[in-house]
Amino acid sequence: MAATTSDIEKAAGVLRAGGLVALPTETVYGLGANAEDPRAVSRIFQVKGRPPSHPLIVHIAAADQLDDWVEGVPATARVLAERFWPGPLTLVLRRGRRVPLEATGGLETVAVRVPDHPAALALLSAFGGGVTAPSANRFGSVSPTTAEHVRAELGDAVDFVLDGGPCQVGVESTIVDVTGEVPSILRPGGVTREDLEAVLGHPVAVPSTSAVRVPGQHPSHYAPRARVVLVEPEKVVAEAELAQELGHRVGVFLPPSHADAPVKAHAVVPLPRAMDAYAQGLYGFLRELDQRGCDLIVASLPVEEGLGLAVANRLRRAAGPRPSA
Ligand code: TXA
Ligand code: MG
Repeated sequence: MAATTSDIEKAAGVLRAGGLVALPTETVYGLGANAEDPRAVSRIFQVKGRPPSHPLIVHIAAADQLDDWVEGVPATARVLAERFWPGPLTLVLRRGRRVPLEATGGLETVAVRVPDHPAALALLSAFGGGVTAPSANRFGSVSPTTAEHVRAELGDAVDFVLDGGPCQVGVESTIVDVTGEVPSILRPGGVTREDLEAVLGHPVAVPSTSAVRVPGQHPSHYAPRARVVLVEPEKVVAEAELAQELGHRVGVFLPPSHADAPVKAHAVVPLPRAMDAYAQGLYGFLRELDQRGCDLIVASLPVEEGLGLAVANRLRRAAGPRPSA
């Protein structure tokens, strides 16, 4: 659904008044506030139930605004911004004075990106400033990729939902830290490691998923209500049927290589063969299995190249240890 000019005006007005706007991006929907309004920024944390030490991303309309928000932009950041913006790449840089500490969780660095979505860009232009926005879900749960997901998850807690249709990329942006000597990937996402390496001309390090490196990177992020179990692709069907026999309501992420297998399970999601379609559908599939009442989801990891790296990262986190409370 295309957002109208009056929707954009309304959303910009809500931001100016210190309210919260759910906005579409190419990756996932964000929960946006005026980046320079500490009270509005604080409300994001309340609504999400997110600890205030977890830094947010500042969304801007164009790469030429980078110097307004960042102190001392290194040449590498300009190269990456030039090549990948608008697009699913977030750069971590030194915080400019315009960015309140509320938005960075007290850090002296700031994450910035230009989203590649016409409604988001129209809103950023109409509003004129920066918009801090985490994904528009409750803390730890699955990111929303449609306006419906946002409404179901946040309801009246958000002042306005700007509906821009389903997100095209479906997993969050790739976060690259460019504050050090060499750029490193803090979170794999919509821009692939291979694309980054091609532009930079050297290998780029990716985090191991087990360690918590920065706030907001807890193992059990992106988790549906159902427990997620990861097994080898050829064991998915057997594992699912065993769990179903044991009394679980099992949802299955059926790999394309086993698409013809009849599976005795509660719900089956046949996975798309193309990795971009898998990434785009991932969070919707997890939500669907929750909605259908599954208590266990059996899946396998895709090959960790291209977008498969981000999909595998999210599945690992969805399957990760949960807080016991
Ligand atoms: O695609 C996306 O990035 C979406 C859309 C809405 O833009 N946003 C998103 O925001 O995924 P959020 O808050 O769910 O995730 C932002 C991540 C967090 O894991 C946080 O730790 C990291 O960015 N981050 C933000 N500022 C940082 C900083 N200064 N240093 C290191 N990591 C940072
Ligand atoms: Mg998030």
